[in-house]
Amino acid sequence: MSYKPSFLSTCVTFEATPAHVASAYQDLNRDMNPEFVHVFLDKIERYARKPDRALFLVQYQNRTIAFATIIDSAPVPDELTAEQVTPLMGYSCGTGLMVLPEFRKKGVASLLVDQWEVWSRKKEHRGIWVITKKMGEWYQKHFNYVRVGVVERKGVKKTILRKDYLLK
Ligand SMILES: CC(C)(COP(=O)(O)OP(=O)(O)OC[C@H]1O[C@@H](n2cnc3c(N)ncnc32)[C@H](O)[C@@H]1OP(=O)(O)O)[C@@H](O)C(=O)NCCC(=O)NCCS
Repeated sequence: MSYKPSFLSTCVTFEATPAHVASAYQDLNRDMNPEFVHVFLDKIERYARKPDRALFLVQYQNRTIAFATIIDSAPVPDELTAEQVTPLMGYSCGTGLMVLPEFRKKGVASLLVDQWEVWSRKKEHRGIWVITKKMGEWYQKHFNYVRVGVVERKGVKKTILRKDYLLK
């Protein structure tokens, strides 16, 4: 599929309400493991409904092509040391980010990572932290996150990263 250079400017990024969930689910679930689609639906319903969290969607030509979720505070992995955990206090947690494969490497995720930060700053949080299996270097290189540490869950290594910002 080829896109005009103006692709990104025709994408619409917004914070979803419960009314957006069904169509977003229809558009996004095809790229997911069928065993986990119900978990995904449950998650995005909660993120669209509850005031301590948010679901952001990107639409292109009225279809949802990407989502991101963020929450006021999430439990940090037990394996981290007190020194690693303390800086994460008062940080929001980015808990999900996905762009449909055919829309990747066009700047769509960057729109969503920016939205995380806007949301988090409005809440006067001190920064954002994320946990990721494979994209640690990506968060560092493109979004100025720093590595906090690595934890292992069921034999899978995951990197924890944070982005700090000063309140203005
Ligand atoms: C990771 C993911 C969200 C990136 O989405 P995207 O829309 O392609 O990201 P962007 O286009 O905004 O990328 C921003 C920059 O990162 C680069 N980039 C994107 N994907 C990359 C990858 N897999 N490896 C290295 N660089 C990558 C882009 O080229 C761009 O660089 P540039 O600004 O120099 O052009 C997407 O590949 C995805 O949904 N992956 C599966 C789920 C996932 O891994 N989620 C995040 C983990 S927590």
